[in-house]
Amino acid sequence: MNIALFASGTGSNVYNVIQHFKSNDLINVVAVLSNKADAGALNHAKNAGVPSLTFGIKEFASAIKVEEFLAEKKVELIVLAGFLLKVPKSLIDLYPNKIINIHPALLPNFGGKGMYGINVHNAVIAAKEKKSGITIHLVNEKYDDGATIAQFECDLNEHDTPQSLAQKVSVLEKSHFPKTIEAYILKIK
Ligand code: GAR
Repeated sequence: MNIALFASGTGSNVYNVIQHFKSNDLINVVAVLSNKADAGALNHAKNAGVPSLTFGIKEFASAIKVEEFLAEKKVELIVLAGFLLKVPKSLIDLYPNKIINIHPALLPNFGGKGMYGINVHNAVIAAKEKKSGITIHLVNEKYDDGATIAQFECDLNEHDTPQSLAQKVSVLEKSHFPKTIEAYILKIK
């Protein structure tokens, strides 16, 4: 199974997923795509020898450039690893139940437009939640709305800040995201 990673940010998850599948004969990370030319994720791709593509917001909406690249690389499943744009319908139709996202909170709470990265953690801390975590889910046409594949939780206390929560969430992401992708692929194969 050939997978592509989409990312907009520093790419710590891209790095981690690439490392996880490096020694896997069944699952290959064959492409990294980003809407940001300076995304750290692209450096991780370069260092690992994984081909990459950058695209503008308008190019993504029409999806042709992206779809051609995915076809060229024979991509069978897409993983959004810190990707901030809404996925166009044409791409969702091309990959039914084969686009996975990671969200840094326990959906359906703290999701939706504008809810990414530290914004999510600010909202969770402001709401004085006792728990947060990560949700790994399928992508549909709405933000953070597709079927849940797995959730993992962390406890919060009164001393937690958005930054300390981000750290707890990052630990969960690093230990569970690649394994959950792998388990999902083995299930649908
Ligand atoms: C991750 O925490 C991921 O869950 C989040 O962006 C961060 C990217 O970090 N995704 C979203 O907020 C999607 N709504 P990274 O660039 O270091 O992998």
